Amino acid sequence: MELGLKTDNLKTLAQQYPVIAVKKIVEKHINSKGTAIPILQDLQNVFGYISPDLLRRAAEFSGIPVNELYSIVTFYAQFRLEPIGEHLIQICHGTACHLAGADKITESIQFEIKAKTGKTSDDNLFTLEKVACLGCCSLAPVMTVDEETHGKLSPENVRKILKTVRRKNSEQSASKGDCEDAG
Ligand code: FES
Repeated sequence: MELGLKTDNLKTLAQQYPVIAVKKIVEKHINSKGTAIPILQDLQNVFGYISPDLLRRAAEFSGIPVNELYSIVTFYAQFRLEPIGEHLIQICHGTACHLAGADKITESIQFEIKAKTGKTSDDNLFTLEKVACLGCCSLAPVMTVDEETHGKLSPENVRKILKTVRRKNSEQSASKGDCEDAG
């Protein structure tokens, strides 16, 4: 089976053959300038985070020293070294959102999920990340939950949004349970 180098294809490949997926990602970027960051970005897109093992493999295939790759992933906030929870919350701290009270919103998210920025909640449901401008400043303050954007946030609507996500999650697990029971 010949899979191209699109992210979705690589994700499929990575589930079965992670090492081959790393090799393909490295090969995709190896001849361009400033190879390390694009390789690391692709690894994160495909695997969700960058584990020590992925770093070692990427170093092996690219010839870039593993220490160098490690310093990059620890320096840039965009890289994750740990797996994320079921839902990724990204709270914007760009200028417009900052001025519109992103700090207060971040605090209320942390309170609701009981996890700090950069961390995953104990129930593994939410990971909270702080990001730069999400590109919809007129809606400041803004956050995304997975692919969905929520703007004009207040602590009250943050609570509602997260409650809805929680409810949907438990409905889904309840219906999965039904299927399992039925099986
Ligand atoms: S500053 Fe938050 S969306 Fe632009």
